[in-house]
Amino acid sequence: MEAREALALHGGPKTKTTPYGTGVKHDATAEAEALRARLEAGPLPLAMGPSIKELRQKVQEMFGVRFCVPTSSGTAAVHTALAALGVTPGDEVITTPVTDHGTVIGIMQLNAIPVFADVNPATMMIDAGTIEPHITSRTRVILPVHLAGCPADMDGICRLARKHGLKVLEDCAQSWMAEWNGRLVGTIGDAGIFSINESKHISAGEGGVLLTNDEEVARYADLFADKSYNRSGQGPIDPVMPALNYRMSEVNAVLAIEQLKKVREVAARRWELGERLAAEIEGLPGIRLLRPPAGSKSSYWHGVLLVDKEEAGVDGPEFTRALVAEGISASCPVSRNLLDWPLFRRLNEDPRAFPTYIAPGLEKGRFALESCPNVLALATRSVRVHLNEFCTDQDIDETARAIRKVARWYRG
Ligand SMILES: Cc1ncc(COP(=O)(O)O)c(C=O)c1O
Repeated sequence: MEAREALALHGGPKTKTTPYGTGVKHDATAEAEALRARLEAGPLPLAMGPSIKELRQKVQEMFGVRFCVPTSSGTAAVHTALAALGVTPGDEVITTPVTDHGTVIGIMQLNAIPVFADVNPATMMIDAGTIEPHITSRTRVILPVHLAGCPADMDGICRLARKHGLKVLEDCAQSWMAEWNGRLVGTIGDAGIFSINESKHISAGEGGVLLTNDEEVARYADLFADKSYNRSGQGPIDPVMPALNYRMSEVNAVLAIEQLKKVREVAARRWELGERLAAEIEGLPGIRLLRPPAGSKSSYWHGVLLVDKEEAGVDGPEFTRALVAEGISASCPVSRNLLDWPLFRRLNEDPRAFPTYIAPGLEKGRFALESCPNVLALATRSVRVHLNEFCTDQDIDETARAIRKVARWYRG
Protein backbone atom coordinates (compact mmCIF):
# COMPACT_ATOMS: atom_id res chain seq x y z
CA MET A 1 0.00 0.00 0.00
CA GLU A 2 1.53 3.33 -1.10
CA ALA A 3 1.60 6.05 1.57
CA ARG A 4 -0.48 9.20 1.16
CA GLU A 5 1.79 11.96 -0.17
CA ALA A 6 1.33 15.73 -0.18
CA LEU A 7 -0.10 16.91 -3.47
CA ALA A 8 1.99 19.18 -5.69
CA LEU A 9 -1.13 21.36 -5.71
CA HIS A 10 -0.45 21.95 -1.99
CA GLY A 11 3.31 22.40 -2.33
CA GLY A 12 4.34 18.72 -2.28
CA PRO A 13 6.77 17.16 -4.78
CA LYS A 14 5.68 16.89 -8.41
CA THR A 15 5.20 13.38 -9.84
CA LYS A 16 6.22 14.08 -13.43
CA THR A 17 9.30 16.22 -13.90
CA THR A 18 10.51 15.03 -17.30
CA PRO A 19 8.95 16.12 -20.61
CA TYR A 20 6.60 13.82 -22.53
CA GLY A 21 7.99 11.85 -25.44
CA THR A 22 7.51 13.69 -28.72
CA GLY A 23 7.68 12.88 -32.41
CA VAL A 24 6.47 14.07 -35.77
CA LYS A 25 3.60 12.71 -37.80
CA HIS A 26 5.25 13.48 -41.13
CA ASP A 27 8.87 12.53 -41.54
CA ALA A 28 10.90 14.46 -44.06
CA THR A 29 12.00 11.33 -45.92
CA ALA A 30 9.15 9.00 -46.92
CA GLU A 31 6.44 11.64 -47.23
CA ALA A 32 8.64 14.25 -48.90
CA GLU A 33 9.98 11.61 -51.28
CA ALA A 34 6.47 10.47 -52.19
CA LEU A 35 5.37 14.05 -52.81
CA ARG A 36 8.40 14.77 -54.98
CA ALA A 37 7.81 11.58 -56.99
CA ARG A 38 4.17 12.52 -57.50
CA LEU A 39 4.98 16.05 -58.65
CA GLU A 40 7.66 14.77 -61.00
CA ALA A 41 5.20 12.27 -62.48
CA GLY A 42 3.14 15.02 -64.08
CA PRO A 43 0.17 17.34 -63.52
CA LEU A 44 -2.37 16.79 -60.76
CA PRO A 45 -5.72 15.78 -62.26
CA LEU A 46 -8.87 17.32 -60.79
CA ALA A 47 -10.36 14.01 -59.75
CA MET A 48 -9.63 10.29 -60.05
CA GLY A 49 -5.89 10.96 -60.35
CA PRO A 50 -3.51 8.04 -59.75
CA SER A 51 -2.94 8.86 -56.05
CA ILE A 52 -6.67 9.17 -55.37
CA LYS A 53 -7.22 5.82 -57.07
CA GLU A 54 -4.39 4.25 -55.08
CA LEU A 55 -5.76 5.64 -51.81
CA ARG A 56 -9.18 4.19 -52.58
CA GLN A 57 -7.61 0.81 -53.23
CA LYS A 58 -5.42 0.86 -50.12
CA VAL A 59 -8.29 1.84 -47.81
CA GLN A 60 -10.57 -0.80 -49.33
CA GLU A 61 -7.91 -3.47 -48.79
CA MET A 62 -7.07 -2.38 -45.26
CA PHE A 63 -10.69 -2.31 -44.13
CA GLY A 64 -11.99 -5.12 -46.31
CA VAL A 65 -14.74 -2.92 -47.76
CA ARG A 66 -15.94 -2.62 -51.35
CA PHE A 67 -15.84 1.17 -51.70
CA CYS A 68 -13.86 4.15 -50.42
CA VAL A 69 -14.68 7.74 -51.38
CA PRO A 70 -11.91 10.21 -50.43
CA THR A 71 -13.12 13.69 -49.42
CA SER A 72 -11.66 17.06 -48.49
CA SER A 73 -12.43 16.60 -44.76
CA GLY A 74 -14.20 14.38 -42.26
CA THR A 75 -17.00 16.94 -42.15
CA ALA A 76 -17.41 16.63 -45.92
CA ALA A 77 -17.45 12.84 -45.58
CA VAL A 78 -20.30 12.99 -43.03
CA HIS A 79 -22.30 15.36 -45.24
CA THR A 80 -21.71 13.22 -48.30
CA ALA A 81 -22.57 9.98 -46.49
CA LEU A 82 -25.81 11.36 -45.08
CA ALA A 83 -26.90 12.59 -48.50
CA ALA A 84 -26.00 9.21 -50.00
CA LEU A 85 -27.98 7.42 -47.28
CA GLY A 86 -31.04 9.38 -48.36
CA VAL A 87 -31.38 12.10 -45.71
CA THR A 88 -33.72 14.87 -46.92
CA PRO A 89 -35.04 18.13 -45.35
CA GLY A 90 -36.97 17.54 -42.14
CA ASP A 91 -35.57 14.03 -41.63
CA GLU A 92 -34.16 13.27 -38.20
CA VAL A 93 -30.67 11.95 -37.55
CA ILE A 94 -30.06 10.66 -34.04
CA THR A 95 -26.60 11.42 -32.74
CA THR A 96 -24.62 12.50 -29.68
CA PRO A 97 -23.92 15.99 -28.33
CA VAL A 98 -20.48 14.78 -27.16
CA THR A 99 -18.58 15.25 -30.39
CA ASP A 100 -17.04 17.72 -32.80
CA HIS A 101 -19.16 20.10 -34.83
CA GLY A 102 -18.16 18.09 -37.91
CA THR A 103 -20.60 15.33 -36.91
CA VAL A 104 -23.65 17.60 -37.15
CA ILE A 105 -22.82 20.17 -39.85
CA GLY A 106 -23.75 17.70 -42.59
CA ILE A 107 -27.12 17.01 -41.00
CA MET A 108 -27.88 20.71 -40.94
CA GLN A 109 -26.58 21.37 -44.44
CA LEU A 110 -29.25 18.92 -45.62
CA ASN A 111 -31.85 20.91 -43.64
CA ALA A 112 -32.40 17.80 -41.58
CA ILE A 113 -32.68 17.78 -37.78
CA PRO A 114 -29.98 16.53 -35.42
CA VAL A 115 -31.70 14.74 -32.56
CA PHE A 116 -29.42 14.50 -29.57
CA ALA A 117 -29.77 11.33 -27.53
CA ASP A 118 -28.28 11.32 -24.05
CA VAL A 119 -25.13 9.29 -23.47
CA ASN A 120 -24.77 6.21 -21.33
CA PRO A 121 -22.86 7.51 -18.27
CA ALA A 122 -20.60 4.43 -18.30
CA THR A 123 -19.39 4.91 -21.89
CA MET A 124 -20.02 8.61 -22.62
CA MET A 125 -21.56 7.40 -25.90
CA ILE A 126 -25.07 6.91 -27.22
CA ASP A 127 -26.32 3.33 -27.36
CA ALA A 128 -29.49 1.42 -28.23
CA GLY A 129 -31.03 2.23 -24.85
CA THR A 130 -30.53 6.00 -25.10
CA ILE A 131 -31.35 6.16 -28.83
CA GLU A 132 -34.60 4.17 -28.96
CA PRO A 133 -36.84 6.72 -27.15
CA HIS A 134 -35.97 9.27 -29.85
CA ILE A 135 -37.02 7.17 -32.85
CA THR A 136 -39.97 8.67 -34.73
CA SER A 137 -41.51 8.21 -38.17
CA ARG A 138 -39.08 10.92 -39.39
CA THR A 139 -35.89 9.22 -38.18
CA ARG A 140 -33.71 8.21 -41.09
CA VAL A 141 -30.18 7.60 -39.76
CA ILE A 142 -28.46 6.76 -36.49
CA LEU A 143 -25.06 8.47 -36.31
CA PRO A 144 -22.97 7.13 -33.42
CA VAL A 145 -19.53 8.63 -32.73
CA HIS A 146 -16.75 6.31 -31.62
CA LEU A 147 -15.36 8.58 -28.94
CA ALA A 148 -11.66 9.29 -28.44
CA GLY A 149 -10.64 5.94 -29.89
CA CYS A 150 -13.24 3.91 -28.00
CA PRO A 151 -15.84 2.00 -30.04
CA ALA A 152 -19.56 2.51 -29.45
CA ASP A 153 -21.79 -0.54 -28.85
CA MET A 154 -22.42 -1.39 -32.48
CA ASP A 155 -24.27 -4.68 -31.80
CA GLY A 156 -27.07 -2.89 -29.99
CA ILE A 157 -27.16 0.04 -32.42
CA CYS A 158 -27.29 -2.15 -35.55
CA ARG A 159 -29.97 -4.39 -34.00
CA LEU A 160 -32.06 -1.32 -33.20
CA ALA A 161 -31.55 0.11 -36.68
CA ARG A 162 -32.65 -3.15 -38.30
CA LYS A 163 -35.73 -3.31 -36.07
CA HIS A 164 -36.82 0.18 -37.20
CA GLY A 165 -35.55 0.08 -40.78
CA LEU A 166 -32.92 2.80 -40.21
CA LYS A 167 -29.47 3.36 -41.66
CA VAL A 168 -26.33 3.58 -39.53
CA LEU A 169 -23.46 5.94 -40.26
CA GLU A 170 -20.39 5.47 -38.04
CA ASP A 171 -18.39 8.60 -37.26
CA CYS A 172 -14.89 7.18 -36.73
CA ALA A 173 -13.01 10.49 -37.04
CA GLN A 174 -11.38 9.99 -33.62
CA SER A 175 -11.06 6.21 -33.76
CA TRP A 176 -8.83 4.90 -36.54
CA MET A 177 -8.40 1.10 -36.24
CA ALA A 178 -10.62 0.77 -33.16
CA GLU A 179 -12.48 -2.54 -33.07
CA TRP A 180 -15.91 -3.55 -31.90
CA ASN A 181 -16.13 -7.31 -31.23
CA GLY A 182 -13.23 -8.00 -33.55
CA ARG A 183 -14.55 -5.80 -36.40
CA LEU A 184 -12.93 -2.54 -37.43
CA VAL A 185 -15.15 0.45 -36.78
CA GLY A 186 -16.32 2.07 -39.98
CA THR A 187 -17.12 -1.33 -41.52
CA ILE A 188 -20.08 -2.31 -39.32
CA GLY A 189 -22.83 0.18 -40.23
CA ASP A 190 -24.14 1.10 -43.68
CA ALA A 191 -21.26 3.57 -44.05
CA GLY A 192 -18.39 4.92 -41.96
CA ILE A 193 -16.30 8.06 -42.13
CA PHE A 194 -12.80 8.98 -40.94
CA SER A 195 -11.01 12.31 -40.65
CA ILE A 196 -7.36 12.72 -41.69
CA ASN A 197 -6.88 16.20 -40.24
CA GLU A 198 -3.72 17.09 -38.35
CA SER A 199 -5.13 16.24 -34.90
CA LYS A 200 -6.11 12.67 -35.77
CA HIS A 201 -4.20 9.35 -35.52
CA ILE A 202 -2.90 9.98 -39.04
CA SER A 203 -2.87 13.20 -41.00
CA ALA A 204 -2.90 14.27 -44.63
CA GLY A 205 -3.04 17.91 -43.52
CA GLU A 206 -6.77 17.80 -44.18
CA GLY A 207 -8.98 15.09 -45.60
CA GLY A 208 -11.51 12.39 -44.97
CA VAL A 209 -12.62 9.03 -46.29
CA LEU A 210 -16.04 7.44 -46.57
CA LEU A 211 -16.30 3.64 -46.46
CA THR A 212 -19.24 1.54 -47.55
CA ASN A 213 -20.11 -1.86 -48.99
CA ASP A 214 -23.24 -0.45 -50.64
CA GLU A 215 -22.69 0.21 -54.34
CA GLU A 216 -25.58 2.66 -54.59
CA VAL A 217 -24.32 4.67 -51.59
CA ALA A 218 -20.81 4.76 -53.08
CA ARG A 219 -22.09 5.86 -56.50
CA TYR A 220 -24.18 8.66 -55.00
CA ALA A 221 -21.30 9.71 -52.70
CA ASP A 222 -18.90 9.92 -55.64
CA LEU A 223 -21.30 12.27 -57.40
CA PHE A 224 -22.14 14.32 -54.32
CA ALA A 225 -18.48 14.94 -53.47
CA ASP A 226 -17.52 15.84 -57.05
CA LYS A 227 -20.02 18.50 -58.20
CA SER A 228 -21.98 15.51 -59.54
CA TYR A 229 -19.70 14.97 -62.50
CA ASN A 230 -20.13 11.40 -63.60
CA ARG A 231 -16.61 10.00 -63.90
CA SER A 232 -17.63 6.36 -63.90
CA GLY A 233 -16.83 6.07 -67.60
CA GLN A 234 -20.41 5.01 -68.25
CA GLY A 235 -22.84 7.58 -69.65
CA PRO A 236 -22.38 11.35 -70.00
CA ILE A 237 -20.24 13.27 -67.51
CA ASP A 238 -22.72 16.18 -67.13
CA PRO A 239 -23.92 17.05 -63.62
CA VAL A 240 -27.17 15.46 -62.59
CA MET A 241 -27.86 17.24 -59.29
CA PRO A 242 -26.70 20.19 -57.18
CA ALA A 243 -23.56 18.98 -55.40
CA LEU A 244 -20.45 20.41 -53.79
CA ASN A 245 -16.77 20.10 -54.52
CA TYR A 246 -15.68 17.91 -51.62
CA ARG A 247 -12.87 16.23 -53.53
CA MET A 248 -9.60 15.30 -51.93
CA SER A 249 -6.59 16.59 -53.87
CA GLU A 250 -3.82 14.41 -55.29
CA VAL A 251 -1.37 16.06 -52.90
CA ASN A 252 -3.44 15.16 -49.85
CA ALA A 253 -3.89 11.65 -51.21
CA VAL A 254 -0.11 11.17 -51.46
CA LEU A 255 0.21 12.10 -47.79
CA ALA A 256 -2.76 9.94 -46.84
CA ILE A 257 -1.25 6.88 -48.55
CA GLU A 258 2.03 7.34 -46.68
CA GLN A 259 0.23 7.86 -43.38
CA LEU A 260 -1.95 4.83 -43.92
CA LYS A 261 1.23 2.70 -43.88
CA LYS A 262 1.75 3.79 -40.27
CA VAL A 263 -1.78 3.65 -38.91
CA ARG A 264 -1.72 0.06 -37.63
CA GLU A 265 1.47 0.71 -35.70
CA VAL A 266 0.17 4.01 -34.32
CA ALA A 267 -3.06 2.41 -33.12
CA ALA A 268 -1.28 -0.65 -31.69
CA ARG A 269 1.09 1.50 -29.65
CA ARG A 270 -1.78 3.63 -28.33
CA TRP A 271 -3.71 0.48 -27.40
CA GLU A 272 -0.65 -0.87 -25.57
CA LEU A 273 -0.14 2.38 -23.64
CA GLY A 274 -3.85 2.76 -22.86
CA GLU A 275 -4.08 -0.75 -21.51
CA ARG A 276 -0.94 -0.18 -19.46
CA LEU A 277 -2.54 2.90 -17.92
CA ALA A 278 -5.83 1.07 -17.29
CA ALA A 279 -4.02 -1.78 -15.50
CA GLU A 280 -1.96 0.63 -13.40
CA ILE A 281 -5.00 2.47 -12.05
CA GLU A 282 -7.39 -0.46 -11.81
CA GLY A 283 -9.34 -0.67 -8.59
CA LEU A 284 -9.11 3.00 -7.61
CA PRO A 285 -12.45 3.91 -6.04
CA GLY A 286 -14.46 6.19 -8.31
CA ILE A 287 -11.75 6.62 -10.98
CA ARG A 288 -11.52 4.62 -14.17
CA LEU A 289 -10.20 4.84 -17.67
CA LEU A 290 -12.74 4.69 -20.51
CA ARG A 291 -12.09 1.42 -22.33
CA PRO A 292 -14.18 -0.97 -24.38
CA PRO A 293 -15.48 -4.35 -23.20
CA ALA A 294 -13.35 -7.50 -23.66
CA GLY A 295 -13.06 -8.48 -27.32
CA SER A 296 -13.09 -4.86 -28.49
CA LYS A 297 -10.21 -2.39 -28.85
CA SER A 298 -9.70 1.32 -28.32
CA SER A 299 -7.08 3.20 -30.32
CA TYR A 300 -6.92 5.81 -27.54
CA TRP A 301 -7.03 9.15 -29.33
CA HIS A 302 -6.24 10.30 -25.81
CA GLY A 303 -6.94 8.92 -22.36
CA VAL A 304 -10.36 9.57 -20.79
CA LEU A 305 -10.84 9.30 -17.04
CA LEU A 306 -14.30 9.10 -15.54
CA VAL A 307 -14.44 10.53 -12.03
CA ASP A 308 -17.31 9.64 -9.72
CA LYS A 309 -17.36 12.34 -7.06
CA GLU A 310 -19.34 10.29 -4.51
CA GLU A 311 -16.78 7.50 -4.53
CA ALA A 312 -13.60 9.41 -5.33
CA GLY A 313 -14.24 12.33 -2.96
CA VAL A 314 -13.29 14.80 -5.70
CA ASP A 315 -14.85 16.08 -8.91
CA GLY A 316 -13.29 16.20 -12.39
CA PRO A 317 -12.19 19.86 -12.40
CA GLU A 318 -10.45 19.57 -9.01
CA PHE A 319 -8.92 16.22 -9.96
CA THR A 320 -7.62 17.83 -13.16
CA ARG A 321 -6.10 20.78 -11.31
CA ALA A 322 -4.29 18.36 -9.02
CA LEU A 323 -3.04 16.26 -11.97
CA VAL A 324 -1.77 19.33 -13.83
CA ALA A 325 0.10 20.42 -10.69
CA GLU A 326 1.69 16.93 -10.66
CA GLY A 327 3.06 17.67 -14.15
CA ILE A 328 0.43 15.71 -16.10
CA SER A 329 -1.11 17.12 -19.26
CA ALA A 330 -4.84 16.95 -18.46
CA SER A 331 -8.03 18.92 -19.05
CA CYS A 332 -11.69 18.79 -18.08
CA PRO A 333 -14.14 18.14 -19.64
CA VAL A 334 -13.06 15.78 -22.39
CA SER A 335 -15.37 17.19 -25.02
CA ARG A 336 -17.66 20.19 -25.15
CA ASN A 337 -21.42 19.73 -25.07
CA LEU A 338 -22.86 20.85 -28.41
CA LEU A 339 -26.14 21.81 -26.77
CA ASP A 340 -24.24 24.46 -24.84
CA TRP A 341 -22.98 26.20 -27.98
CA PRO A 342 -24.46 29.54 -29.10
CA LEU A 343 -25.63 27.74 -32.28
CA PHE A 344 -27.95 25.33 -30.48
CA ARG A 345 -28.93 27.76 -27.74
CA ARG A 346 -30.18 30.11 -30.48
CA LEU A 347 -31.94 27.37 -32.41
CA ASN A 348 -33.57 26.16 -29.22
CA GLU A 349 -35.16 29.60 -28.87
CA ASP A 350 -35.76 30.29 -32.55
CA PRO A 351 -35.82 27.40 -35.07
CA ARG A 352 -35.61 29.99 -37.89
CA ALA A 353 -32.62 31.84 -36.42
CA PHE A 354 -30.42 31.10 -39.45
CA PRO A 355 -31.60 31.90 -42.99
CA THR A 356 -29.44 29.09 -44.41
CA TYR A 357 -30.90 26.46 -42.08
CA ILE A 358 -34.57 25.77 -42.75
CA ALA A 359 -35.51 22.40 -41.28
CA PRO A 360 -39.17 21.52 -41.84
CA GLY A 361 -40.80 20.47 -38.58
CA LEU A 362 -38.11 21.89 -36.29
CA GLU A 363 -39.86 23.30 -33.24
CA LYS A 364 -38.77 25.61 -30.46
CA GLY A 365 -37.26 23.79 -27.48
CA ARG A 366 -35.77 20.89 -29.49
CA PHE A 367 -32.25 21.61 -28.21
CA ALA A 368 -32.84 22.12 -24.51
CA LEU A 369 -29.65 21.84 -22.46
CA GLU A 370 -31.40 19.74 -19.82
CA SER A 371 -32.55 17.17 -22.41
CA CYS A 372 -29.29 15.26 -21.92
CA PRO A 373 -28.57 15.15 -18.17
CA ASN A 374 -25.78 12.57 -18.46
CA VAL A 375 -23.99 14.84 -20.94
CA LEU A 376 -24.36 17.78 -18.56
CA ALA A 377 -22.80 15.68 -15.80
CA LEU A 378 -19.75 14.98 -17.97
CA ALA A 379 -18.71 18.62 -17.50
CA THR A 380 -17.53 17.64 -14.02
CA ARG A 381 -16.92 13.91 -14.54
CA SER A 382 -14.70 13.53 -17.60
CA VAL A 383 -10.97 14.22 -17.65
CA ARG A 384 -8.72 14.07 -20.70
CA VAL A 385 -5.16 12.85 -20.13
CA HIS A 386 -2.39 13.02 -22.70
CA LEU A 387 -1.65 9.75 -24.46
CA ASN A 388 -0.32 9.23 -27.95
CA GLU A 389 2.12 6.96 -29.77
CA PHE A 390 5.06 9.19 -28.89
CA CYS A 391 4.55 8.72 -25.14
CA THR A 392 7.14 6.57 -23.44
CA ASP A 393 6.30 3.79 -20.99
CA GLN A 394 7.70 6.13 -18.34
CA ASP A 395 5.21 8.86 -19.34
CA ILE A 396 2.34 6.45 -18.80
CA ASP A 397 3.75 5.06 -15.55
CA GLU A 398 4.13 8.62 -14.23
CA THR A 399 0.60 9.44 -15.35
CA ALA A 400 -0.65 6.38 -13.46
CA ARG A 401 1.40 7.27 -10.38
CA ALA A 402 0.01 10.81 -10.38
CA ILE A 403 -3.56 9.53 -10.78
CA ARG A 404 -3.08 7.10 -7.87
CA LYS A 405 -1.48 9.79 -5.72
CA VAL A 406 -4.24 12.32 -6.32
CA ALA A 407 -7.00 9.70 -5.93
CA ARG A 408 -5.53 8.48 -2.62
CA TRP A 409 -5.23 11.99 -1.27
CA TYR A 410 -8.87 12.86 -1.89
CA ARG A 411 -10.13 9.51 -0.59
CA GLY A 412 -8.40 10.40 2.68
C1 LIG B 1 -16.04 13.04 -34.12
C2 LIG B 1 -15.64 13.92 -35.26
N1 LIG B 1 -16.42 13.95 -36.36
C3 LIG B 1 -16.11 14.70 -37.42
C4 LIG B 1 -14.98 15.50 -37.41
C5 LIG B 1 -14.70 16.36 -38.59
O1 LIG B 1 -13.49 16.07 -39.21
P1 LIG B 1 -12.71 17.23 -40.05
O2 LIG B 1 -12.09 18.14 -39.06
O3 LIG B 1 -11.73 16.44 -40.85
O4 LIG B 1 -13.72 17.90 -40.89
C6 LIG B 1 -14.14 15.51 -36.30
C7 LIG B 1 -12.93 16.35 -36.27
O5 LIG B 1 -12.44 16.76 -35.26
C8 LIG B 1 -14.49 14.70 -35.19
O6 LIG B 1 -13.73 14.66 -34.08
